[in-house]
Order: sequence, then structure tokens, then C-alpha cells
Amino acid sequence: MHYLVTGGAGYIGSHICLRLTELGHGVTVLDDFSSGHRWAVTGHEVIEADLRDLEQLRRLLSGCDFDGVFHFAAKSLVGESGKKPVYYFQNNVSGTANLLEVALEQGWRDCVFSSTAAVYGNPTTETIAETQPLKPINVYGQTKRVMEELLSAVHAQGNCNAACLRYFNAAGAAPEQGLGEWHEPETHLIPNILRRAAGDDLALTIFGDDYATPDGTCIRDYIHVLDLADAHIKAMELLHQQGGFYRLNLGNGRGYSVREVLGACEQAVGVPIAHTVGARRPGDPARLVADATQAGEVLDWQPIRDLQAIVESAWAWEQQRRAMAQV
Ligand SMILES: NC(=O)c1ccc[n+]([C@@H]2O[C@H](COP(=O)([O-])OP(=O)(O)OC[C@H]3O[C@@H](n4cnc5c(N)ncnc54)[C@H](O)[C@@H]3O)[C@@H](O)[C@H]2O)c1
Repeated sequence: MHYLVTGGAGYIGSHICLRLTELGHGVTVLDDFSSGHRWAVTGHEVIEADLRDLEQLRRLLSGCDFDGVFHFAAKSLVGESGKKPVYYFQNNVSGTANLLEVALEQGWRDCVFSSTAAVYGNPTTETIAETQPLKPINVYGQTKRVMEELLSAVHAQGNCNAACLRYFNAAGAAPEQGLGEWHEPETHLIPNILRRAAGDDLALTIFGDDYATPDGTCIRDYIHVLDLADAHIKAMELLHQQGGFYRLNLGNGRGYSVREVLGACEQAVGVPIAHTVGARRPGDPARLVADATQAGEVLDWQPIRDLQAIVESAWAWEQQRRAMAQV
């Protein structure tokens, strides 16, 4: 098979490209490198393009024959999305509409799409199943909900098959293959803890230790990026075999508290990591954990890497990343 991977120069997309090529598939990356990295696409065919530019997409993609599209390209900073809603809707929603327009013209039918747990907003149950109402509380989540609706509408016309994969927190790396997470700014907990451990001058604060959780800190669902990659590939295979439209949560279904994550990082690093405890952040729910039962059944998939495997791989990657940053 040969696949188009939008956002393939980004964190998650680059790991999917890795797994696809390990499985013998061909990969073409489409990316504007607005947050992706050129080193992350070494060895892949690359089309440098901005999804917002329909004519450019038509010019560069017409005549290309892909067996399916993995669609990762998006802006995903929650804080920024609130400050730049028009930009987020243009990039994420209009960009997806343009991609679908070209996909329909070219006859690529199967699309695996990066959705997010942010489509749910604040949950009303202990674990979040796909039946939970979609009430995003930020612009980023709103754009992803609309992107899902767009795919659903195109599917309803009989023109595409799609799997919208709602993931919680992707983490971990593939250091042996020289891949890992590198966002600037970095907003994710694990890379920030490890940057602090490696000596970066950043404030590490636990926001609230008085939640109704076993150790008082918030619980979130982390999933290794290579487990995510395998779920994406299984979703694409499902679309090839039986078509359809799917909305599936991807998570480990257990959840880890901030203190557990910090403890796992300290074990990986081998020394205590300096941090402070601050006040709760407004709007932070105590627990955001996936019920990923449906994905397990539909995709015949389970995450196999635990929190310690996630942070060990992220720590090994952090050493490489710092060496690359110094060059
Ligand atoms: N990282 C997570 O924990 C997480 C959780 C849930 C959902 N997601 C979703 O997964 C996807 C990938 O996330 P990530 O962490 O790898 O992000 P990332 O920023 O590392 O990757 C996104 C990629 O898309 C590219 N891109 C953005 N806008 C583009 C455009 N208009 N045209 C072409 N390329 C464009 C960027 O250059 C980048 O390479 C995103 O859609 C994100 O919303 C991520």
C-alpha cells in the first residue's frame, strides 16, 4: 500500500510513517513544516504544502494514487486556539475540507483522522466512552468536532470511509529510530518534566494536590505513541476491509496521576526532580480517562506499553533531542 500522511513531519505523524515503512508500505508526507521537523521525514517522499491552499494541493497532488490518507495535520495548542479562533478554524476545518475535496477528486476513499478527547469537554462519568456528549470547552476541541462532522457528512454521501480516533495524551518516543516529541512551546507534562530534569530553567508546578483522587493530583490517560501508531494502521486496514465510519477512543483506560508520572520520570532519570505544588487551574477536571473498550473490540487492539516504558523512551529521546538542539 502507499499512503498519504498529512502532518507526517509532526510528533505522532512521524511515528506512523516509521511503522508504515517498517511494515513495507510506501509513504508520502504532506506538511507545511509550521510545527513539524525536516529531520523527522528523512527517507520519505515529501510534499511541502499548506492544506489551506486548495489550488496548491490540486497542483501537487493531482494524479497521485494513494490507498488511503492518515490526516494528522492540525494546530493543537488549546491556549492559542482561544486567542486565534479564525486561524484555528481556517487551518483545521478549511484545511480538512480542502484535503477532502482533493481526495474525492482523486478517488482516495479511506481516511484515518486524528481527533481528540477534547471533543468531550468536561466528562460526566468516571471514564469517557464514545457515548459521552460532545461539548468541547475550547476552540481546538470545537474545530476537531467540526472536522469529524465534515468527515461524517462526506461518508453519508457514500464518498469516503473514515475512522476518527479520539486520543487522550500521546507520549513516549522511538529513540532507537531517532524519533520523538519536540514541540515549541511544549505544553505536555512528560516532556516538560524531563526537560526540567535535564536542566532546563522551567518552573515545574503540580496544579492542585487536593483533588478527590488517591494522591490528590489530577489523573490523565497517557498512551505510547507507538501503540497509537498500531491502532491507526489497524483502523486503516478495517476501512480497506469493510468500509464504514467510526469514532473510537484510544487510551490505556487506566489513567495515571501527576504524582505517578513524576515518580516514573524520577525512576527513569535516577534522581529527584525539583517541583512545586500550586493552586488548581480553573477548568481542570480531576480525572480524564478513556473507556477504550470499543477500540479494543473493533480494531482488535490493546496498548502494550505502560507508563514506565513511556517515560523511559521519552527520557532516552530527550538526550538525543538536546544533542540535536546544540548542533
Ligand atoms: N499530541 C497529543 O497528545 C494529541 C492528542 C490528541 C490529538 N492530537 C492530534 O494529533 C495530531 C498530531 O499531533 P502532534 O502532537 O503530532 O502535533 P504536531 O504539531 O507535532 O504535528 C502536526 C503537524 O501538522 C503540520 N501542519 C499543521 N498545519 C498544517 C497545514 N495547514 N498544512 C500542512 N501541514 C500542517 C505541522 O507542521 C506538523 O508537522 C493533531 O491533529 C492533534 O490535534 C494530538
